[in-house]
Amino acid sequence: MLNISQLLESDRNCVWHPYSAMGVDLPIYPVKSAQGVHIKLVDGRELVDGMSSWWSAIHGYNHPEINQAVYNQLQDMAHVMFGGLTHQPAVELATQLVELTPDSLKTVFFVDSGSVAVEVAMKMAVQYWYAKKQPKKQKMLTIRHGYHGDTFGAMSVSDPVNGMHSLFSEVLIEQFFAESPVCKFGQPCLESDIISLQTQLKKNHAQIAAVIVEPIVQGAGGMRIYSADYLKQLRHFCDQYDVLLILDEIATGFGRTGKMFACEHADIEPDILCLGKALTGGYMTLAATLTNVDIAQTISEGEPGLFMHGPTFMANPLACSAGLASLKILIDSPWHSRIKHIEQLLKTGLEPCRQYGRVKDVRVLGAIGVVELHQAVNIKQIQPQFVEAGVWIRPFNHLIYLMPPYIIGDDDLNLLTHSICNIVSNIQETL
Ligand SMILES: Cc1ncc(COP(=O)(O)O)c(C=O)c1O
Repeated sequence: MLNISQLLESDRNCVWHPYSAMGVDLPIYPVKSAQGVHIKLVDGRELVDGMSSWWSAIHGYNHPEINQAVYNQLQDMAHVMFGGLTHQPAVELATQLVELTPDSLKTVFFVDSGSVAVEVAMKMAVQYWYAKKQPKKQKMLTIRHGYHGDTFGAMSVSDPVNGMHSLFSEVLIEQFFAESPVCKFGQPCLESDIISLQTQLKKNHAQIAAVIVEPIVQGAGGMRIYSADYLKQLRHFCDQYDVLLILDEIATGFGRTGKMFACEHADIEPDILCLGKALTGGYMTLAATLTNVDIAQTISEGEPGLFMHGPTFMANPLACSAGLASLKILIDSPWHSRIKHIEQLLKTGLEPCRQYGRVKDVRVLGAIGVVELHQAVNIKQIQPQFVEAGVWIRPFNHLIYLMPPYIIGDDDLNLLTHSICNIVSNIQETL
């Protein structure tokens, strides 16, 4: 077993971390364990988690029911291939997802990560039109400031600036982009918000297989929270121009915005839906792409007569068991009132940040609280300050945000918001 300094040295020498460079001296914290909403570091410090491990651990860590479900499944099998074989956890989870998601969605394709769920959604859209003898409809239309993952297809529909499209210009598929809406959540959507989308559809619909967006909250592309009215109009235009609608609810699904799925704010249904992250309560990597009967049947009955995707770890039984346990915990819990309560505490707790000139905006929806700064955060400087304050908060670009586990208590949540206000006020003094 490595001691702390050996672990850190080996980590620095041979382990890549997300969006990082090797050999750069950025703070990194070895974790010993995690329990409830607390992350325990190897050096004994305990941090209140404000991130839910990138928005996935909605019930907190080390949950006895999810542990038990995974343990039970392990007694039968950790994994079997999904080609030609099936199993109880996958079938049960698919059935429950069909029940929980909007009515028209009837089939579930399991994959191993959110990015791959997006790839599968895009493939489904293209294969649908191919089967309908419209092979020219192969492009996607999306809005700026989106984020859909790190694989090439997913990158191609993520924000061209944040996603550094220039770096991959020779390999990325060129897609169509519309301006993202400026109409805020709770406000009506003006013609100026929708005009860019409408123009793109009008001009290019013959080449467009689908529009793909994150409903209501654009997450990693900027934490932008937009009007449900925009989504309603988007649905209408997709129907008008014969283009499918893919909703990427990988970040927003399973209650995060105050509804089970963010599309419910707009009372619309997608043709294809991507789920991930909280699907297993943050236990294991699993994602799913759901679609309606028309798309499933058209693909299955058209050329080449099968859907062209099938990962090795498709519908991994351990992950599906964790997913089933997580769904049961969520559905049996008063999640709706909990999220409302978290929303209220986030609003009152983060509001004081507005007084600082460095703060551009404070916005909250459901269990998402965002403080946007005018300048990008210096992560090397700010990360240790959060850890010193006893919280795990991981800012990016101009954004300091919270997406805590739903089980968080008032004291812990207040510590998170308090630390943000404190540290933001210090940034003013130190920069
Ligand atoms: C909306 C959205 N789509 C897709 C992804 C990619 O998911 P994964 O990191 O599991 O590949 C993310 C991840 O942050 C996301 O927020």
